[in-house]
Amino acid sequence: MLNKKSVDDINVKGKKVLVRCDFNVPLQDGKITDENRLVASLPTIKKLIADGGKVILCSHLGKPKGEPKPELSLAPVAARMSELLGQEVVFAADPEVVGPNAKAAVAAMKDGDVVLLENTRYRKEETKNGEAFSKDLASLCEVFVNDAFGTAHRAHCSNVGVTQYVDTAVVGYLMQKEIDFLGNAVNNPERPFVAILGGSKVSSKISVINNLLDKVDTLIIGGGMAYTFAKAAGFEVGKSLLEADYIDYANEMVQKAKDKGVNLLLPVDTVVAKEFNNDAPSRVVEGSMEPDEMGLDIGPKTRELYKDAVKSAKTVVWNGPMGVFEMPNFAKGTIAVAEALAEIDATTIIGGGDSAAAVNQLGFGDKMSHISTGGGASLEFLEGKELPGVAAANDK
Ligand code: 3PG
Repeated sequence: MLNKKSVDDINVKGKKVLVRCDFNVPLQDGKITDENRLVASLPTIKKLIADGGKVILCSHLGKPKGEPKPELSLAPVAARMSELLGQEVVFAADPEVVGPNAKAAVAAMKDGDVVLLENTRYRKEETKNGEAFSKDLASLCEVFVNDAFGTAHRAHCSNVGVTQYVDTAVVGYLMQKEIDFLGNAVNNPERPFVAILGGSKVSSKISVINNLLDKVDTLIIGGGMAYTFAKAAGFEVGKSLLEADYIDYANEMVQKAKDKGVNLLLPVDTVVAKEFNNDAPSRVVEGSMEPDEMGLDIGPKTRELYKDAVKSAKTVVWNGPMGVFEMPNFAKGTIAVAEALAEIDATTIIGGGDSAAAVNQLGFGDKMSHISTGGGASLEFLEGKELPGVAAANDK
């Protein structure tokens, strides 16, 4: 359990409450294309409204690099949040984020009102955790609530700096839920505990593999990073994603798994094509590929092997797709794993980012115990790192 004060430990009646959310949602032509992060923020916001707080929301969106970029304004989020909450979310359009417009909007608030500030990364200091912007944010409120799990691996003004200038800094329900699911899985899992890691790069998951090998009963590897392991095992991988600098590391991890008695599963067959294209002719390869071929998905035998391996699991953590799931002809491996997880009687936790997108896009979202809203944050958590955004909240 998370040992941090939460929104249940404070009284916000009549108080100005600044809530850091992760509203960093994908936008296309000004339209939000995935609103999971908005929906996930609702329980905390509704609770604060019901308790009579003046609820001031803030978030970053994309990477505007310290200057106002209209295409990265949070205005569309204010509009959608108004609909989701069923009450107006006043958008404090303000190029300084905490400038005259924002201050006026906050001054006009009544208990239960909601205001959304402009993209915190319009200010240069935000990503540097600078003092001036941290103080500006703190000056707006009496209580600070951090519910931005997706940003918890960053130490920025709006989630860390601000806590130095407020008396009360607590976490919200989303943050609690994320840490409870991920923390229980990693530190106190019901066994057998299986982790499934995919995605393109070994280099981005080095510490995750290393840390999880100390915790799991079975580690399953798929996706692009499997080709570095295949090369390490002596197979040719053609034009597949390969990180030659990590071949030794892959061998070390295979050895570590043996030493620890962890069942490390790697693909036994691969769907390959000569082009990175959904319609490219493909074939299934066991062993080495031809020089002009690239691996794009796990093969049918591997799908069965992986499905079998999760059957008896009681806890499963999955991060990273098994193949190029965006292309239907190379999505079968990812679908097979999602189906297997949907069928078993276990706690199933999906890391954010690509894996969450895959599970939702393929229609298995409501079959999982928990889908994290954090991509980088859930990975860093699985690496065993302390997340600065969580650490900054008041202890119980
Ligand atoms: C994310 O989408 O992973 C978070 O919102 C953090 O965004 P960032 O990688 O731009 O800091």
